[in-house]
Amino acid sequence: MKRQRACIIGGTGFVGRHLLTRLRDAGYHCVVPTRRAFRHRDLRLYPDVELQEVTAATDYAGLFAGCSLVVNLAGILNESGGLTFQSVHVDLVRRIVAAAQAVGVPRLLHMSALHADAERGGSDYLRSKGEGEDIAHGAGLAVTSFRPSVIFGRGDSFFNRFRGLLDLAPGMVPLACPNAQFAPVWVDDVAQAMVRSIGDERTMGQRYDLCGPKVLTLEDLMAYTARTLGKRVWIIGLDDKRSELMAKLLGKLPGAPITLDNYRSMQTPSVCDEHNGLLQLGIHPTDIDTIVPTYLAG
Ligand SMILES: NC(=O)c1ccc[n+]([C@@H]2O[C@H](COP(=O)([O-])OP(=O)(O)OC[C@H]3O[C@@H](n4cnc5c(N)ncnc54)[C@H](OP(=O)(O)O)[C@@H]3O)[C@@H](O)[C@H]2O)c1
Repeated sequence: MKRQRACIIGGTGFVGRHLLTRLRDAGYHCVVPTRRAFRHRDLRLYPDVELQEVTAATDYAGLFAGCSLVVNLAGILNESGGLTFQSVHVDLVRRIVAAAQAVGVPRLLHMSALHADAERGGSDYLRSKGEGEDIAHGAGLAVTSFRPSVIFGRGDSFFNRFRGLLDLAPGMVPLACPNAQFAPVWVDDVAQAMVRSIGDERTMGQRYDLCGPKVLTLEDLMAYTARTLGKRVWIIGLDDKRSELMAKLLGKLPGAPITLDNYRSMQTPSVCDEHNGLLQLGIHPTDIDTIVPTYLAG
């Protein structure tokens, strides 16, 4: 049977690589645009994956021709190297949507973030994600958005970042925003939600909040990471003033572990207030205990 063609923007990233596996299993030939093909050469070894180098000037309509599905996963957590929230979360979405309209793409999946809101979002990240989501939904396309809490799984930048901090820590770690709340959601549950929605007309126009089964604080999660690694560590939770100061200072460093905008995002609990979209899509959310030890402790 001939494979359908899908274009996955951001397919080289953490979520993208997990989603590619699911989409290939579902019978798609995946076109993956990337700004840095040399970094993702390994993807050329996958059957049914086609890397395409893109620049800021690339016309996405050319890439979308013949695609029955476009997925937008492009996103950044911090602005750096000339990339801004506006350019990635807003302007790029505008280009993707215009190209999808131009070639008549029948289905678009858009990755946003929990509590993204163009007006009321608590940080530049959340406001820009909200604006991008509204653009994706305002173009008359058959679009579904996904709004996850923090995503975990092999290759994540969450538990793996904690592990990095613990490797550097001399028995104690100062932690900003220790009471910030998260409902970590497994990357494969997210990928499954996306794939399930493709052919389901009821999901078109919907925006799904995606959460894992447990609400945990940042301090809980750091302590969990230490326990999983068999490390003893004293976690020094900073109060709000010191957390903000730490974010301000460290945010100026390249590859900053926290920025002022991250601090602002964390003032909104990253938990599902009403419905968990995973349950709405018939997916039982997977607990961190089932998955994290399989990749963190290895
Ligand atoms: N990970 C989480 O905990 C989490 C939580 C909530 C929401 N999200 C959202 O989920 C999506 C995927 O996250 P992730 O963790 O997989 O991120 P990631 O690993 O950093 O991957 C992001 C991808 O975006 C692409 N990208 C970035 N800027 C781009 C640009 N200007 N033009 C084209 N492509 C660009 C990159 O592709 P190249 O570098 O190959 O060009 C990369 O593959 C993002 O939208 C993120 O905001 C993630």
